[in-house]
Amino acid sequence: MSAAPVLEVRDLTVEFTTDRGTVRPVEGVDLTLRAGEMLGLVGESGSGKSVTSLAITGLTEYTGGRIVSGSVRLGDVDMLALAAKERAAVLGRDVGLVFQQPRRSLNPTMPVGHQIAETVRRHRGVSRREAWERAVQMLERVRIPDAARRAREYPFSFSGGMAQRVMIAMALACEPKVLIADEPTTALDATVQATVMELLRELQHDLGVAVLLITHDLGVAWGSCDRVAVMYCGQVVEEGPGRDLLTAPEHPYTQGLLRATPHRGMRRQLTPIAGSVPSPANLPAGCRFHPRCPRFTAGMCDVIEPRLEVRGHGRSDRCVHPEQRVVSR
Ligand SMILES: Nc1ncnc2c1ncn2[C@@H]1O[C@H](COP(=O)(O)OP(=O)(O)O)[C@@H](O)[C@H]1O
Ligand code: SF4
Ligand SMILES: [Mg+2]
Repeated sequence: MSAAPVLEVRDLTVEFTTDRGTVRPVEGVDLTLRAGEMLGLVGESGSGKSVTSLAITGLTEYTGGRIVSGSVRLGDVDMLALAAKERAAVLGRDVGLVFQQPRRSLNPTMPVGHQIAETVRRHRGVSRREAWERAVQMLERVRIPDAARRAREYPFSFSGGMAQRVMIAMALACEPKVLIADEPTTALDATVQATVMELLRELQHDLGVAVLLITHDLGVAWGSCDRVAVMYCGQVVEEGPGRDLLTAPEHPYTQGLLRATPHRGMRRQLTPIAGSVPSPANLPAGCRFHPRCPRFTAGMCDVIEPRLEVRGHGRSDRCVHPEQRVVSR
């Protein structure tokens, strides 16, 4: 039986008022992250992944947006109903956050060990000494060599990959149930990317933390994620167990992403998806993917708005094309 959900997002819609009118970069998103699993949220840049992750953490208002519908439950807690102070207590203690630019998220004027220790003291109320010991232990846990000495150094003396390890150590120092990592390896070299992903996977397994891994790069999700949700134009278009979905995608968008991404087991040449992600101010009618879809059929794909349909074997996708089903099953 599958583990209990630790994070449940239902029907999430986020709106912004822009000079091009009101836009909804995220519309009707459902996500379920279960205890101890890694869920990948993948899709090209501009598909609404970061707007989703900010909404989950309750930080939408700071970006000028508003949540017009939906719920975000972290265990028994309704994230969207929390006041700023309660939310700050939850973030860091129950939810760890890791972003693309570790050095921008770290305080440049404070040694990294102190930053981690501060977080531990704030959320756990332990003594200074215990918090420092925990900080060093976490730096060792993310395999920073000579951790006790390096804990006293400032962020600028860490390489990008090492700084991301520090961020991961800080995010996990209070033993959160959920880690949200938004493009954690995007700013890193390919070899460093691989070691950071390996580390995340190992920590997820050893500490039992559930991870929401957000990435535009299917290659990063490949082999790491227990489940994958593919996002396009603010909607989840396909979801399922990571291995099944990435080896045999059903949705034309996922198929296109796969053909455009170098990955293990690849036999064919890379083919980018034609065109680009439309702006939320200018969404196509019917299926939002129709202007780029190789299976586009006039009178159907540009008219009917597909719903996310459950297809069995834990998979669902959003496509109205009957041929899609016949071809793939
Ligand atoms: N603060 C904002 N105001 C208006 N539009 C925004 C804002 N933040 C993001 N968007 C728009 O929402 C869409 C999705 O953005 P984002 O979630 O950052 O994409 P991703 O993380 O998948 O690359 C983009 O078209 C972006 O321009
Ligand atoms: S509904 Fe039509 S345009 Fe949309 S993904 Fe399916 S085949 Fe492509
Ligand atoms: Mg993003």
